[in-house]
Amino acid sequence: MFQIIILAAGKGTRMKSDTPKVLHKLCEKPMIDYIIEESKKITNSIDVILSHKFEDVKKEIEKYNVRIHKQDLKNFPGTGGALKEIPFTGEKILILNGDMPLITADEIKKFFEIDADIAMSIMNLTNPDGYGRVVIENERVKKIVEQKDANEDELKIPFVNAGVYCFKKEILEKYIPLLDNNNAQKEYYLTDIIEMAVKDNLNIKALEVNEEDFKGINSKKDLSVAEKIMCNRIKDKWMQQGVIMRLPDTIFIDAYSRFEGECEIESGSVIKKAKIIKSRVKANSVIEEAVLKNSEVGPMARIRPKSEIVDSKIGNFVEVKASKLNDVKAGHLSYLGDAEIDSGTNIGAGTITCNYDGKAKYKTKIGKNVFVGSDTQLIAPVVIEDDVMIAAGSTVNKDIKKGSLAISRSPLKIIEGFYYKFFGKN
Ligand code: UD1
Ligand code: MG
Repeated sequence: MFQIIILAAGKGTRMKSDTPKVLHKLCEKPMIDYIIEESKKITNSIDVILSHKFEDVKKEIEKYNVRIHKQDLKNFPGTGGALKEIPFTGEKILILNGDMPLITADEIKKFFEIDADIAMSIMNLTNPDGYGRVVIENERVKKIVEQKDANEDELKIPFVNAGVYCFKKEILEKYIPLLDNNNAQKEYYLTDIIEMAVKDNLNIKALEVNEEDFKGINSKKDLSVAEKIMCNRIKDKWMQQGVIMRLPDTIFIDAYSRFEGECEIESGSVIKKAKIIKSRVKANSVIEEAVLKNSEVGPMARIRPKSEIVDSKIGNFVEVKASKLNDVKAGHLSYLGDAEIDSGTNIGAGTITCNYDGKAKYKTKIGKNVFVGSDTQLIAPVVIEDDVMIAAGSTVNKDIKKGSLAISRSPLKIIEGFYYKFFGKN
């Protein structure tokens, strides 16, 4: 049986954040989620080691049904300390750092397939900064030196430890208790096992891996680089499934959004936790936690959480929040919040649902075939029945019965010649 142990107890000091490192997000999903999901493709025997902000991280990963442990960071800090009290149950045990969200199940699998006492991961980098260096002599791994403990010559080594290792069970059982914290960070380094194993003549194999899949996230800069890679993976997947993307480099799609049927997304759009079915999102629109079906949205539209837009056309500078629109046209410059709008209805430019009175939010209900004139304010709660016409510029603060015209306007006053009196004649 294979066992995977994910190290996620560290504070992540270099992230300079109150959020624990493994809860930082790529494309809206926490790093730790990606790692657990890929690990689950290989085994159900997964242990995750937490400590810093234990409850926060535990809450995020409870859904995965993995074994959760708390590291004694005070007495046993470090990646080796993390393993001090963990039961080793698998024949082979793979250790993964929790800060490498781009790792894939295919890459993890390779380590289990290597026949060795220890299989470890190496990258050859032009910029090895931040990683532990792998000292190699006569083509054999000798030890791993952490950056903070490395001398000048060691710092120049381009080979780094990528942070994935597969151990035979008995190796961990033997060497974890032997680790000490005699180093610059006063931590128990898992990586010290390598030097001990070399001295004992064990069979260590190093697998050279690619920088993209094994990238460790230690700073906000690393996070941004990894997010770009992840976002590209997500977009590539959807394009393969038939989504059209115009200038995909400028589009952000998160890990939770779903597309069905042929959809088209234009440049500059941001799509988060959305379900988009046979719809077109025009340039620079933002869609968040909303469903679009057979609809066209944008350019420059904002569809906010809990909106459902079906068979509708939403134009520029229209903001929709927590509203259901079914076969509706809202072409320009409107705010539709907490509204339900039925088929055949046209929302004129500048229509505002005034849904908030400073204390609470109220609903607006608009029936079928309603014509809402431009610059209408609908003071919620308000119900507009079917076949109603609302004259441009009206303030609607009463319910309107089926078939009516509603008009509220102060009479227009015209004073002839006033312009010339005020500005004078040229
Ligand atoms: C570690 C390796 C380094 C390697 C790099 C690859 C060690 C000593 N060093 O360094 O050789 O090049 O990863 O990315 O292992 N963690 C715990 N408990 C702790 C400390 C850390 O669970 O007490 C977890 C962290 O949450 C993190 C992972 O272990 O997910 C790695 O810790 P980090 O501090 O990022 O180690 P690096 O300095 O990157
Ligand atoms: Mg790291």
